[in-house]
Amino acid sequence: MASPLPPGPVGIRVRVPAKINLALKVGSPREDGFHPLATVYQAVSLCDEVYAEWANPDEYEVTVSGEGTGLVPTDDSNLAIRAAKLLARTYGPHDSLGVSLSIKKAIPVAGGLAGGSADGAGALLACAVLWDLDVGPEALAELAAELGSDVPFALVGGTAVGSGRGESLVPALARGNYHWVLAFGHQGLSTPAVYRRFDALSAPAEPLAVPDDLMNALRVGDAKLLGAALSNDLQEAALEMQPQLRQTLDFGLDYGALGAIVSGSGPTCAFLVAGEPAAVDLSVALSAEGVCRAVRRTTGPVPGARVIS
Ligand code: C5P
Repeated sequence: MASPLPPGPVGIRVRVPAKINLALKVGSPREDGFHPLATVYQAVSLCDEVYAEWANPDEYEVTVSGEGTGLVPTDDSNLAIRAAKLLARTYGPHDSLGVSLSIKKAIPVAGGLAGGSADGAGALLACAVLWDLDVGPEALAELAAELGSDVPFALVGGTAVGSGRGESLVPALARGNYHWVLAFGHQGLSTPAVYRRFDALSAPAEPLAVPDDLMNALRVGDAKLLGAALSNDLQEAALEMQPQLRQTLDFGLDYGALGAIVSGSGPTCAFLVAGEPAAVDLSVALSAEGVCRAVRRTTGPVPGARVIS
C-alpha cells in the first residue's frame, strides 16, 4: 500500500562522475588494513545517474541499468542503499524515511574508476535533497568517508589531492581541460586483491608525496607534461594480474597518446591525448585492435555529484 506522498519533490536525479588517479602513491598497510595514499584525483565526464524517489517508511530498494548491470548487488550490500540508510540513521527521522533508487550506470563495475563510490555519493546527495534534510557539504563528506575511501571525492569532483586512505581532500591548483580515452577491461579487478598483490610485490617508498612534476604540469595546464608525469604504484600489481593490459597501454602509447596509465586498481586503461580529434582517432584504433572490451572518450576535470532534476 502506497503511503501519502510527503511535501517536496517526488524524485531527485543526480549525476556523478568517475575518477582517474593521475598519480597514486601507496604506502605500507596501516593497522586497520588500509593503505596510506598520496594521490591526485581528476573527475571526468563519464557519469552514472542516481534517481531517488520516495518509498514507504523504512523501505529501501535499488534497481540498476546500463554498464555491468548484472554485476551490481541490489541487496543491502549495494553502496547506494548503504549510503541512504546511513544518511537516514544519522540525520533523519529515520522511521519515516524510505527510498527507491534507480541507478543508470555508464562507469564500469570493478574498473578502477570508482563507479561504486560514485553511486554511493550520488545516493547521499539525492536522498539529502529528496528528504529535505538539514545536512551540509561537510557532514555529507563525513558520511561519504564512512562509506569508502573514494566516496568523498565523488561528491566534490574537480582535481584534488587525496591523503589518508584517499578520503582526505584538498583541491589542486590545476588549469586546463584534458581529453582522455578510456579502455575498459574484459574482466574487472578486485581492489583488495590488487592491494594484496602490491604488498607482496614491493617495499613502498616513504615518505608519501604526490610527484612535483605532476603538480607543476597541472599548475601550468600542460597536457604533454601531464602525460609524462602520470604514475600509479598499483599498476605493476594490476599488470601482473591481467598481463594483457600491458599490450593495451603500449598500443595507446605507440599510437601517440601523451600518457597511458592503469586507473586506480584497474583494469581500465586511461590515455591522455592532445584533443578531441586525437581522442576520436585513438578510440577507433583501440576498438579495431580488439585489445579491450569497450572504449569511451571523456574529459576532465568536471564537478562532483550534482542535482540535474
Ligand atoms: O575504501 P574502499 O571500500 O573503497 O576500499 C576497498 C578496499 O580497497 C579496502 O577494503 C582495502 O582492501 C583496499 N584499500 C586499501 N587502502 C586504501 C583504499 C582501499 O587497502 N587506501
